[in-house]
This record gives sequence, structure tokens and C-alpha cells, in this order.
Amino acid sequence: MKTLSKAVLSSFVLTVVLSVGACKKSDQTISIPAPDTALNIKQTKALAPGMVAAANPHAVDAGLEVLRAGGSAVDAAIAVQTVLSLVEPQSSGIGGGAFMIVYDNKAGDVWFYNGRETAPASVTPEMFLDEDGKPLRYFDGIASGRSTGVPGVMVMLSKAHNDYGKTPWADSFEPAIKLADEGFAISPRMGGLIKMAASYGVLNRQEAAREYFFKEDGKTPHEIGFVRDNKPYAETLRALQKNPRALLEPPIANAIIAATHEEPLPGFMTLDDMANYQAQKEPALCGTYRSYTLCGAQPPSSGGIAVLSILGQLENFDMTALGNSLQGWQAFAESSFLAYADRDQYVADDDFVAVPVKEMLDKDYLKSRAALITMDKAMTDVKAGDPAGFIRGQDATPDSPGTSHFTIIDKSGLTVSMTTTVESVFGSQRMAGGFMLNNQLTDFSFKTHDDTGVPIANAPAPGKRPRSSMAPMIAFGPDGQLAFTTGSPGGSSIIAYTAKSIIGMVDWGLSPQEAIALPNVIARNGSIRLEENRLDPDIISGLEGLGHKVIRSKGEISGLHIIRRNPDGSYTGGADPRREGLAKSE
Ligand code: DON
Repeated sequence: MKTLSKAVLSSFVLTVVLSVGACKKSDQTISIPAPDTALNIKQTKALAPGMVAAANPHAVDAGLEVLRAGGSAVDAAIAVQTVLSLVEPQSSGIGGGAFMIVYDNKAGDVWFYNGRETAPASVTPEMFLDEDGKPLRYFDGIASGRSTGVPGVMVMLSKAHNDYGKTPWADSFEPAIKLADEGFAISPRMGGLIKMAASYGVLNRQEAAREYFFKEDGKTPHEIGFVRDNKPYAETLRALQKNPRALLEPPIANAIIAATHEEPLPGFMTLDDMANYQAQKEPALCGTYRSYTLCGAQPPSSGGIAVLSILGQLENFDMTALGNSLQGWQAFAESSFLAYADRDQYVADDDFVAVPVKEMLDKDYLKSRAALITMDKAMTDVKAGDPAGFIRGQDATPDSPGTSHFTIIDKSGLTVSMTTTVESVFGSQRMAGGFMLNNQLTDFSFKTHDDTGVPIANAPAPGKRPRSSMAPMIAFGPDGQLAFTTGSPGGSSIIAYTAKSIIGMVDWGLSPQEAIALPNVIARNGSIRLEENRLDPDIISGLEGLGHKVIRSKGEISGLHIIRRNPDGSYTGGADPRREGLAKSE
């Protein structure tokens, strides 16, 4: 169990608590010198009505309904999540997991709530290897019973509700229950993805999913605009209203277990695995970028660490002067290469392996990494550094699309930044109780050792949480006041999407919406994938001219949702046009 201690932000010293232990959770407190202007996050005043930014209008409306009824940002998060589970089941849901950063403006605390799924007690490190010891084909792993981890998001929300709920737990479920009973029109994105999933031939394999997503012939997907109700989901939500752990106890737990035990590749989940599940809460991982302080997810997420690594390296460049130019993107891309290499190798569940968080984010270490970046040539042969005197095996964790990010500020100033996921589009392609089951365990490395025999940090193990890239963040400005929230879905690209949004707002002075609109540029594993339609063609050819292997992407699946606090205390939101959401005030 992780020790709980508070990240206290005083006027003179920003104290950050980092967890660096292996199995034993030794909390270590380090002091980061204060920036020029003293930090005093406690003083953040909330003058404005609340705001919700999320990936679907129904979810935004549900969150606002709860805020208007006097609910807190956490009460609203429960409503947003339970509606997303219904109207955006391809991305997140109550059968999945999540990370939530909460800024408690009254106490000045920034918390990391961890609702990541855990592996059942009887999994083996070889769970994703075939009989010949070779990694399973990725999609076979996804659409299997063994990819499902114990769902954690509702237990996590219940923990946060105990701390910050203002209205009764059950009230936040009403918007989703109503929508599930009455039905909702399938959105263009959901309809398109049902069609895509249908083309893989597995979403209609399990009876419950077949009946839900397909017409009576069991083959033709329901179309965009079809009004879909979901009575089993309404029933599940009623059970959750009475018992926040209802998913982890009979009878719903039995239904989940039965679905995961179906062929092919049946899983290992038991009622004990469910009963043992606990969400965790610890201080957020905070670091500085120029005169800002950014707080995000701790391990098992690599998101907070990798975003802070990219930024910490870029702190050695004048990104404002470089601007949205070839040189600006060259610096961003090379910094990303380095940060991804480090996170690939070192980050995993720190209850199981030592993660050298403090060393990875040490400013001198990041400066030495930044010294590898040149403006006139593409970096070749990118390797992880050695921040702490030990190495790990070359990672072999696969990646795929799913996930949603939302953010809420209530009128008291309580702030939530939450990224939530069933992992792949429609998770494991199986349903129970009207919701999708996650395939989060495919976020483990399928291989246990690299080709040289060195153990991989993110290999599966009983009770372990797979490494994530999710990076919900909350930023504080030079005046110590709340500055903005950010975060995105997108698998490992989350790190690049989120870092881009921060550079856009902090260095390039962009509004949330402008920062979201910047091209996505993902530099990882020796190539740069970039949005061809959003990036200046001269910059693209310039990057090629520097020797980069460029992959031109027609569009990316970021889903950045941002709320910025303006100097007058009002809020400006931004929603990613690449998804279907919006930002709206109370
Ligand atoms: O936790 C993770 O990093 C992944 N399960 C997230 C997957 C994801 O973001 C897919 N995105 N669209």
C-alpha cells in the first residue's frame, strides 16, 4: 500500500512527494527551488460558474446538471463517466479504469486517484504468449477473456466522492439512468466505430454485444442516429446507486467473470480478485516547467513522467523564440524521442518494480538528455538514458485506440482532470450488465524479457496494474493560481498530444482551442507521425530534410479537453474537434 502524504505547496518551496520504492513504498520528499514568484496555490479563488469539457454533449450536459444541483466537480465526474459509458462505449466506461487528478483549492492539495485495473491473482507472466512462447497476435489478445483486468473506475470515483462529494452518491447516476431507459441516438463517431469493429468480425461474437450493437440478423451494425436504449445498464446503475462496489460483488461480478471465462482465450478472474480491489490515492506527481507547476499521474502511468520529461528537456530551449516553426517542432520531436525511450524502459507499476521517477525528472539529468538534441540533424539510434544506475529490458508493450478525457471545475474551484479508458475501441469486445469489459491487461508487455534476456519492467504479474500513458494534468501559473487543466486519449500518443497542448499555451501564448488545434506530432521509436493536414508543408519537408523518417497521418485521435483559468477568474474551455465533445459553462 502506498503511504499517503500531502503535497504541500508553500509560499517558498514546492514540496513534491515522489514514490520511488520497489514493492516497499518509501516516500521521498524532495524540494524544488521556488520559481521567481512565490507559489501559493491555496489562494486560488473561484469567481466563476463551473465548467465541463468532455468528449460527448450528453456527458457534458449530465455534468452541468449535477453542478447546477449543487454538486461538486467530483459529483459531476460521476455523472459524466456514467453517461460516457453509455454514449461513448468505444472509449471508456464503468467496466474500465481511470486516473483522476483533483485540485482541492481550499486545502491547496493536488491528489492522484488511481482506478487502474489489476491483473487477477492467477495470471502468469506468460499470459500473452502462445504455446511456442511467441507473443499472441495483438488483436487475439485484445478480443479475449484474459485481457480484462478488475474494473476500477467506479471504486475510484467512490473514494473521491467520500472526500469531495457534496450531493448524495446516488444522485449523480440519474442522468445516465434516464438516458439508458429512454435511449440516445448513436453518434457519428460511435456509429462509425461499430462499423469498423464489425468489420473485424469479433464484436458480434458474444451474444450480449451482438444483440446490443447489431440488428436482428446479428451482422448488420446499428447505424448512426439509431435510438439505442440499454435497460441492463440502467439496472446496473441502480445497483451502483445502492452499493459503490456493486460491480465487484455478486450478481454483477458473476456476470463479468462469466463473460471473461468464455472462449476464446478465457481469463482468470475470480470473485476474490474483485473483492480484493482497492483504488488508491496519493499526492500527484508535480514538477515545474518554466514558471509553471504541473501536476499529473504517478506510476503505473508513464503519462505524467513522460510529459514532464519532454518539458524538462525543452526548458533548455527558448521555445517561445523557436515558435511554431521547423526548429520548434524539431526540438519538440527530438525531446519526445528521448522521453519515450526512457518511459518505455523504466516505467511500470511501482508496487512491483522500482521506477526511478525522481532521477528521470532530475533537472540535471534532463539537461544532459537535452544536450543530445541538435537543430540541424535528426537524432538516430535513440536510446534510453541511465538516470539511476540500472537498466531494464527493451519494452514490448503494444498500443491501440479507445479512451476519453474530461475536465470539470465547479463554482467553489474544486478541479478535476480525468482520463478514463476501456483500452481498445470497445475494450475486449465483450459486455456484461450493459457495459463493455476492458482489455486493459494488453497494456502489459506481451514479452517478459527482451531479446538480450533482460526482464521487462511492464511484464504481467498477479495483482499488478499495467503501465499506462494516460496523462491527466492540472497546471498552476507563476502566481500560484490554477492556470489550466489538460489531458487526452490516444494510447502512447497521449504523451505527445498533452505536451503539445502545454507548449501551445505556455510558450506560444495560445488559447485552449488554438492549442488543441495545433498539429499533433508524435516522435517515437525512430519515426515522426504527424498530421499532414494541420502542419505547414514546409515544416514537414524540413523535418524530412533533417533526415527524419516522417509518417504522414491523415488525422489523429487526440481528444484534448482543456479548461483555462483567465486572469479575471473566468474560465475558457477547449474541446478537440477530432472527437465530438464541447466545453460548456454552468
Ligand atoms: O492506459 C493507457 O495508456 C491506454 N489504455 C490508453 C488507450 C488509449 O488512450 C486509446 N486511445 N484513444
